[in-house]
Amino acid sequence: MQDLSPINAGLEPIETASRDEIAELQFHRMQWSLRHAYENSPFYRKRFDENGAHPEDLKTLADIAKFPFTVKQDLRETYPFGMFATPRERLVRIHGSSGTTGKPTVVGYTQRDIDTWANLIARSIRAAGGRPGDMLHNSYGYGLFTGGLGAHYGAEKLGCTVVPMSGGMTERQVTLINDFKPRIIMVTPSYMLSILDEFRRQGLDPRESSLEIGIFGAEPWTNAMREEIEEAFNMQAVDIYGLSEIMGPGVAQECVETKDGLHVWEDHFYPEIIDPVTGEVLPDGQLGELVFTTLTKEGLPMVRYRTRDLTRLLPGTARSMRRIEKITGRSDDMIILRGVNVFPTQIEEQILKCEGLAPHFQIELSRSGRMDNMTVHVECAPHMCDESARAHSAKELAHHIKSVVGVSTKINVTDPNGVARSEGKAKRVVDNRPKE
Ligand code: DLL
Repeated sequence: MQDLSPINAGLEPIETASRDEIAELQFHRMQWSLRHAYENSPFYRKRFDENGAHPEDLKTLADIAKFPFTVKQDLRETYPFGMFATPRERLVRIHGSSGTTGKPTVVGYTQRDIDTWANLIARSIRAAGGRPGDMLHNSYGYGLFTGGLGAHYGAEKLGCTVVPMSGGMTERQVTLINDFKPRIIMVTPSYMLSILDEFRRQGLDPRESSLEIGIFGAEPWTNAMREEIEEAFNMQAVDIYGLSEIMGPGVAQECVETKDGLHVWEDHFYPEIIDPVTGEVLPDGQLGELVFTTLTKEGLPMVRYRTRDLTRLLPGTARSMRRIEKITGRSDDMIILRGVNVFPTQIEEQILKCEGLAPHFQIELSRSGRMDNMTVHVECAPHMCDESARAHSAKELAHHIKSVVGVSTKINVTDPNGVARSEGKAKRVVDNRPKE
């Protein structure tokens, strides 16, 4: 594999700036952003006024805590364009997130927003080890989802040759990877596993593929999954984070030389961690809900947007900007099973410890009487599918989950391909409990 040791030449100055420089830039940009939101978005003006907050109240960065939160429901209630801070005619692009229920939430970008986004994706790909001239296979979905087009514009900006593949047609994905020989792939980690299976189905050795770097995100995944993918493809697997409400992919990115969490691109997004119950700001290092204030966005500024993603803020390492720890999960995805909090990522970690299991899984919740039950559907590894191997794997997984996560679960070891696959974000939890 190519040497990917840190090469600082070519980084933007802000990536290695001092904390003071970053804080000063953030402060000025935050003042601008709050004023912009207040003056140009009737939604924010009303919200600030109702909460007795005014952009002039921001005397230090910490004063952001005086401003009210914004939540997904606000976007739903103002659907489609009610929160925007520029006239609709100035937007050059609309994206949306489907969500699981109800109307999509709509986000919009001015030309400057699109340029910023492309720059941040270019910076992210670079941090992942990508360089101008690399070929990049983009399997994030194109369309309203921000993954495809977001990655696409940034990869072009860096100077990569982009293959705009989108999700799906897995057989074709593998063919094109073999024929075009891209160095980089951008895709959800769960879909990368489907691509892996397809390599094997076609009798190809994934370790012999041209892929050297995978930039995986849009859903939670664990370090255990990283090892699995890196080993299978003989590649570097790094994490990319983002959400459409704030921009799309490229809000935070892991550096390939450290792989120790994701640097938040703090020159454009101000992160806070709050207690999800009280809303109180927590000090760096503590686990809580990630909140963002956009610092430069024109079309749709976001003030203290509650992401529902759970993580902690850590000091910078490969870059001076702070990191977020790999996301544990969304508070919405947290399962409370007989009083114990369970995240799908915890189940993923235990599955990857079992030799007889493949990393395709789905969690089903059901109720018998007043008792909630959890069943983990997981595929057997292709070489360990006979009855006794399956029984052994089921027992092993149940034991790991009980001892590490602390809950009793039913395990259903299926045939290969027995668990529904996604071509984008995996659906990890199916809740069949009766609605209250
Ligand atoms: O998923 C943007 C994106 C596309 C990020 C491609 C990375 C790569 P949404 O559809 O709005 O946007 O979903 C955002 O996905 O709040 C997290 O819950 C989850 N998510 C995104 N990236 C990660 C990640 C895109 N690296 C929601 N790890 C976020 C864990 C992630 N969860």
